[in-house]
Amino acid sequence: MFGLSNNTAFSQLLGSAPAIESVVRTAQIAAATDAHILIEGETGTGKELMARAIQQSSLRADEPFVVINCAALPEELVESLLFGHEEGAFTGATVRKDGYVQHANGGTLFLDEIGELPLTLQAKLLRFVENGECQRVGSHETEIIDARIIAATHRDLIDMVSLRTFRQDLFYRLSVVNVRMPTLRERSRDIAKLAEHFLNETAKRHNNRPSRFDKETLKHLKHHHWPGNIRELKNICEHVSALMPGQIISLKDLPVEIREQSNTHSTGFTLPKDGINMESLEFDLINQALEYADGNKSHAARLLGLSRDAFLYRLKKHDING
Ligand SMILES: Nc1ncnc2c1ncn2[C@@H]1O[C@H](COP(=O)(O)OP(=O)(O)OP(=O)(O)O)[C@@H](O)[C@H]1O
Ligand SMILES: [Mg+2]
Repeated sequence: MFGLSNNTAFSQLLGSAPAIESVVRTAQIAAATDAHILIEGETGTGKELMARAIQQSSLRADEPFVVINCAALPEELVESLLFGHEEGAFTGATVRKDGYVQHANGGTLFLDEIGELPLTLQAKLLRFVENGECQRVGSHETEIIDARIIAATHRDLIDMVSLRTFRQDLFYRLSVVNVRMPTLRERSRDIAKLAEHFLNETAKRHNNRPSRFDKETLKHLKHHHWPGNIRELKNICEHVSALMPGQIISLKDLPVEIREQSNTHSTGFTLPKDGINMESLEFDLINQALEYADGNKSHAARLLGLSRDAFLYRLKKHDING
């Protein structure tokens, strides 16, 4: 079975690579509790799909699931959109209105792109996250709302905390359970099956026979960098299905940016004929990255294309204090 779980809510998350399996296991356990959950991961890694799976297999499955895109909230209206307002609270507030938070009462509040929330609002949200307290704009009364929070971001919140653009207290309140969605690069062995699934799905939708990638193309896809992760793979599959329904897809049929990117991703580094000392090269690169990043470890890790954990491991290995 290619699905990750027998649990129907989680069965939409396809894949069998260890990197995603362990994440799904954690999420399934957390779903059954009422703990707030922070989902982190690059764009297109399935954060929203994961949030919905958690909600659907939680005790609040039949209750509202309210999605807020924190990146798209207009600054002047944000507080009333979130917490509601009283009649006459501001010009144009002709009736008392509930906000997203009231709509989510009893259910789940999905705070997407939480890293984009302005600091002023982070303070207001903190109070709500801590004990469910909120106040409508124009009211002095406090309401208690019972909502489970799932937050998601493509940003490195620990980095933001160290740069003081994200509140540390809010970070800890939100990340009672931390779910980190792996990139498609980290689960490249899932690529062939995911592609087959997306090709079949598209063909079914359009009443066609499914297209197929030939062996060489699949190998190329496996080594592609996938900055847009699963969404990017899905788009490619839909693209080739539309142009070449029921046919065998070869390398030349791929969009040019996919065909060429694996090469452009090469480091350009050529091994000297008399070789190098790998350990001292690694030591130098780490120190240079730390210098460029002014000692910020998350930033330095990114400069080297490493996860924070992988970077910390290397710091320890080389006995660098950072
Ligand atoms: N494991 C998976 N199996 C099948 N489809 C997936 C999987 N993960 C993601 N997808 C699909 O990939 C697309 C992107 O997923 P989603 O919107 O959940 O990503 P995201 O992490 O929220 O992205 P963004 O940061 O850009 O908002 C969706 O069409 C989703 O259905
Ligand atoms: Mg999303």
